[in-house]
Amino acid sequence: MSVTSAPAADTAAAQYRPSQRILHWLMAIVIISALVLGLYCSHHAPGTPLRRALLDVHKSLGMMALVLIAVRLPLRLSLGEPAYQRPLDILNHYAARGAHILLYALMILMPLAGYTTSAAGGHDLPWFGLFQWPNLLPVNKALERTAADIHEYGAYCLYVIVSAHILAALWHHFFRRDDVLKRML
Ligand code: HEM
Ligand code: HEM
Repeated sequence: MSVTSAPAADTAAAQYRPSQRILHWLMAIVIISALVLGLYCSHHAPGTPLRRALLDVHKSLGMMALVLIAVRLPLRLSLGEPAYQRPLDILNHYAARGAHILLYALMILMPLAGYTTSAAGGHDLPWFGLFQWPNLLPVNKALERTAADIHEYGAYCLYVIVSAHILAALWHHFFRRDDVLKRML
């Protein structure tokens, strides 16, 4: 499997390494689930048992994203990315590069802001009912509010960029018929 800039065989798309692909899809599931649950919770009054239970799952998924990105980012920096079989035009190249950098930034920012919201608010930090993450912050309501605002605006950015990212992948696959989606499959 080629991960260098050497041209791949005509029929085979150069792919990301298996470890990178596994992490991409695992994190995609974790983050999309966290987005859906977070959105649901934000529309339900605090204190209801269902909201509390779903928020615990949300926090557990969010902390999983934090652990996974700590593995994924160094891997990406050391392994790089495979060459495109058919190079992207300059506009697509910079659009994809910009979107990927923003996605990486949000994958770091969102769990950290979520953690800070819960920790500075003195709330639980559960992991699927198995244990509690350590709370490293003193209770600080101003910090909790600021982190919650960052978490909320970060979520708006994620909705837009993840939607554009998925639409772009489908556009490449079904309309441009190139190897972009196959690089990640
Ligand atoms: C990739 C990781 C995460 C994503 C994509 C995410 C996404 C969201 C979204 C979309 C919301 C609803 C909008 C809002 O009110 O902010 C939300 C709310 C929330 N999230 Fe996260 N979150 C993540 C990680 C975390 C983590 C790690 C924690 C805590 C350990 C956390 C705690 C919360 C809390 C407490 C709320 C507030 C719910 C409310 O009061 O309405 N999140 N999150
Ligand atoms: C159904 C959902 C998704 C599909 C179909 C998809 C598809 C893809 C594809 C085809 C690539 C390779 C692009 C290229 O080589 O130019 C890619 C890369 C990437 N995706 Fe996704 N993706 C999805 C969900 C997500 C989510 C939810 C996130 C994060 C919030 C994400 C973050 C990334 C990042 C950061 C890269 C760049 C990888 C790198 O260069 O290390 N993806 N995705």
